[in-house]
Amino acid sequence: MNSILELQGVSKTIRGKQLVQDVSFSVNAGEVFGFLGPNGAGKTTTIRMMVGLSDLTQGDLFISGYSIRSSYSEAIKHVGVIIENPEMYNHLTARKNMIHFARMNGAIDYDRINELLELVGLTNVIDKKVKTFSLGMKQRLGIAQALIHRPKLLILDEPTNGLDPEGIRLIRTYLRKLAKEEGLAVLVSSHLMSEMELMCDRFAIIQEGKMVHEEILVGTEEEKQSAYNVLVQEDQLNSALAIARNFDPQAVIKENKVCLLLDNHQISLFIRQLSSAVDVKEVIQSKESLEDRFLHLTNKEGVNL
Ligand SMILES: Nc1ncnc2c1ncn2[C@@H]1O[C@H](COP(=O)(O)OP(=O)(O)OP(=O)(O)O)[C@@H](O)[C@H]1O
Ligand SMILES: [Mg+2]
Repeated sequence: MNSILELQGVSKTIRGKQLVQDVSFSVNAGEVFGFLGPNGAGKTTTIRMMVGLSDLTQGDLFISGYSIRSSYSEAIKHVGVIIENPEMYNHLTARKNMIHFARMNGAIDYDRINELLELVGLTNVIDKKVKTFSLGMKQRLGIAQALIHRPKLLILDEPTNGLDPEGIRLIRTYLRKLAKEEGLAVLVSSHLMSEMELMCDRFAIIQEGKMVHEEILVGTEEEKQSAYNVLVQEDQLNSALAIARNFDPQAVIKENKVCLLLDNHQISLFIRQLSSAVDVKEVIQSKESLEDRFLHLTNKEGVNL
């Protein structure tokens, strides 16, 4: 596997408070990876460590094989990043902002500038001043700026914050295109689960500094997970729950049903084990959205994130 970003047991403690604890995952070339979690989970803290803005207390982090701890300058060459809002000059045009940014990064490659503005769909406003841009257009210009030095990894902290559904759709389209066409590894953080479902190939959920879940979204049906509701006699609910917990430690009883997440290839094994112990009335694959699953996984049912 061609992993561009790799976190190995990354932890961060500030003044005795453990903000990030033993986080490990990797992001491959050509994939969009979602880094999900509720407010205060530790997403920005982890991202700041990824780009050397903050030291790791424990663990290590590799970009294109280079450790951010021991080979910082090599590692950072391969990263384009936007934390919170992109920085740009409102009184300059999109093109001039790109030229300015390229100059700060070394040489100015005019073809690259045109190519990037085209890639993020800003060709028709290339000579318009940024102050006339919508928030979504500014985000896309920020992405183009972050890619000027041809990084292998693009890191965006909550790039869709404040965008309307159309703005979010455009960011999604362009990020997927960049991953595919430039072979870029993209890490996107968000607390909005529903939009990540369409944007990402895989995602990890972080909660209170710990990684609680990792899942593939795009892939073969076999690799995917689904939510299931199991109907049994009421007096057998607890026995069914115990079996479900062997497959999903976070299985719960809700409205007289056992609810769990299963890898699709495990379903027949699950039903076999279940029916050897209880009378199964029905097993229904639910069309639970990622948002529901997130609430299930973080046990924050009904809480507005
Ligand atoms: N410099 C710091 N010193 C002490 N605590 C901090 C510091 N920076 C962040 N924290 C705390 O670390 C936790 C994680 O914060 P972080 O900003 O990483 O969360 P987040 O997942 O990015 O949240 P959001 O979705 O709100 O952006 C929070 O409880 C925050 O208060
Ligand atoms: Mg944050």
